[in-house]
Amino acid sequence: MADADRERWDSRHSVAGVGTPAPPDALRGRESLLPAGGRALDVACGRGSVAVWLALRGFVVDAVDVSPVALASGAALAAANGAAVSWRAGDLDSGLPPGCTGPYDVVVCQRFRDPRLHPVFARVLAPGGLLVLTVLSAVDDEPGPFRAGPGELAAAFDGLTTVVHEEGNGEATLIAIRRRWGVAPGSPPARPAPW
Ligand SMILES: C[S@@+](CC[C@H](N)C(=O)[O-])C[C@H]1O[C@@H](n2cnc3c(N)ncnc32)[C@H](O)[C@@H]1O
Repeated sequence: MADADRERWDSRHSVAGVGTPAPPDALRGRESLLPAGGRALDVACGRGSVAVWLALRGFVVDAVDVSPVALASGAALAAANGAAVSWRAGDLDSGLPPGCTGPYDVVVCQRFRDPRLHPVFARVLAPGGLLVLTVLSAVDDEPGPFRAGPGELAAAFDGLTTVVHEEGNGEATLIAIRRRWGVAPGSPPARPAPW
């Protein structure tokens, strides 16, 4: 990412100040889908509302963003709530930072889209893990470089089991699970994921 772009994010985050803990939008009313605990990754975490919410639910959380201002805001939010999060500065144009290798029981990426990361998300997701994505979409809106095309998320994660796939009004959501190998007693053996 160019310095000018990072500075633009820094100034947006500094105007917004410290946020509040909040579930990912896609999980509102669906919190029961969350695994009982484990490791979580919040990609492009912004000011850390989701990361801190996950930490308060007992997850060990890594949260990545390119903006030091966003991460400082997240750290302030965590401190105010007695939560611990590993804040990791990194430019996702180069992939996940070293150390974010998973396996993660929850991977969240909300309002940030980079299709180059899709195979990475699948790779770091633990068996039984939950993927929660919300991106801008071209469905019911103008196409553009930051918007997913119709069906993009479902196609990208067709090796996972889709729980929710919604598109419309310029937004797309995918909630998917990486099935455990042979988890369901009596069911036919699952095929291993291709990654
Ligand atoms: C629209 S905000 C979403 C923040 C948060 N996920 C949320 O839902 O509130 C997009 C975030 O992506 C971060 N970002 C943009 N490009 C990035 C990059 N190349 N690497 C890492 N973070 C990036 C920005 O700093 C910003 O915090």
